[in-house]
Amino acid sequence: MGNLQLIGPFTQLITMAGLPEKGPISDEKMGIIPNGGVLMNYGVILKVGEFDQLYKNVKQNSIDLIEFEHEAVALPGFVDPHTHLCFAGSRANDYAKRISGKTYLEIANEGGGIWQTVQDTRAADKDQLFDDTLKRGKSLLHTGITTAEVKSGYCLNFEGELKMLKSIKKADEHTEIDLISTCLAAHMKPRDFDGNTEEYLSYILNKLLPEVIGKNLSSRVDIFIEDGAFSELESKKYLIGANRLGFDITIHGDQFSQGGSRVAIETGAISVDHLEASADKEILSLAKSDAISTVLPGASVGLGMPYAPARKLLDAGNAVAIGSDWNPGSAPMGNLLLQASLLSASEKLSNAETFAGITIRASKALNLHDRGVIKQGMVADIIAFPCTDYREILYHQGQLKPNIIIKKGKLINV
Ligand code: NIG
Ligand code: FE
Repeated sequence: MGNLQLIGPFTQLITMAGLPEKGPISDEKMGIIPNGGVLMNYGVILKVGEFDQLYKNVKQNSIDLIEFEHEAVALPGFVDPHTHLCFAGSRANDYAKRISGKTYLEIANEGGGIWQTVQDTRAADKDQLFDDTLKRGKSLLHTGITTAEVKSGYCLNFEGELKMLKSIKKADEHTEIDLISTCLAAHMKPRDFDGNTEEYLSYILNKLLPEVIGKNLSSRVDIFIEDGAFSELESKKYLIGANRLGFDITIHGDQFSQGGSRVAIETGAISVDHLEASADKEILSLAKSDAISTVLPGASVGLGMPYAPARKLLDAGNAVAIGSDWNPGSAPMGNLLLQASLLSASEKLSNAETFAGITIRASKALNLHDRGVIKQGMVADIIAFPCTDYREILYHQGQLKPNIIIKKGKLINV
C-alpha cells in the first residue's frame, strides 16, 4: 500500500475551514465543496478539492484510491472535548432518586453521587478499568468521534488517580481514537482524606501532579468549582500551581452556582465547561477572554435541568464547544451528536455553530490545533454520512450515523 491516498467523491465536503474563531456563524459561511475529495499522505491532509481534479493531478498508479459509489456528506471527525468515560459501576440508584425529585447535590450530600463512583472505581481491577475504557472509547469512534477527552477523578488518591490515567493512556494506545487525558483529582475532597479541602489540593499539587506530568500521563488539569467541591479562592491557588508545573487548565464551572468562570478567566484556562448557571455578567466576561465555553447538554438531559445559554454565549462573542460529559452520574447517555442536535433545537444554534462546536471549536477546547478542520496540514480525521445534504444530519437528531470513518488516514470498519 502506498502512502498517498485519495478519498471521495463526497457529494458534499464540509471542511469547516475559514470560519470565525468566536461568536455566531451562519450556515452560509460554511464552505461546501460539491463532489469533493481529499488527498492524504501518511495520515495527514495534503490537498482538498474537487475529486476529479485531484485525481487528474496525481500519478494514478502512485495512489491508493478510496472511492465511493454512494452519496456521502463529509465533515471533520468529531471531537468530544469533555468526558469521564473511565469509571466503574453504575449510578442507576442515583438516577432513580433524581427522577423521583431529589437533586444532584442532595444525593451527593447523602454520600451518593461522585463518591459512589469513587468507591467502585477504587475497587476496580486495573485491567477491568482499562477494558471498559477501551470499549467505551471504541464505541465513540464508531459514532464518528475521532478524538475524545477523558478525565480521571474517580479515585481521588495517589495510587488510584495514577491507575485511572494509566488505563486511559493504555486505552489510547490500543485503539485508533485519540483519547486525551485530563487529571481531575480535584473532583471533590474524598471523604476519607484526613484534612480540609485546601490541604487536599496541596496534597495533589505537591505529590500527584509532578508524577503525572513526569510520567507523561496527562498535561491537563481540571477542577470542580462548586459548593460541596472546591471554592474559588483555593481553586485559584491550585490552578496557578498546576500551571507552573506545565499543565493546561480546564474547569468545571458555573454548573449550579457562579464562580468557576471567573477563576477560569483569572487563571488563563483553555476552557470552562458546564456554564448552565452563567448569567449575563459571566457571559460577557467570558467573551472578552480566550477561554472556550464548553457546554454539556448531556448533563442537562441527565439532570433534568435547563441547558447552558449557548445562544447567548455565541451572541456575546464566545467560542462555544459542545461535549457529552459522558459519566455514570449526571450524563450517562454519552451520545454527542444526539445531544448537540437537541441543544441546537432548544438554543437555536445553526448547523454551522453546532458542527463547529463538535469539530474546530472542540479541538481548540483541548488546545489541539491540528484537527477539527479538513485542510492541508491537518490530521486526516474525516467522517461521512449517507446523505446528500449536510442539514440531514442534525435533522435526524443523532439517528443518522456516519458510515465512513477515517482516522489518521486509516479507514475504520463500521
Ligand atoms: O461534569 N460536575 C461534576 N462532575 C461531573 C459529574 C460527575 C459525576 O456525577 O459522576 C459532571 O457533571
Ligand atoms: Fe464533567
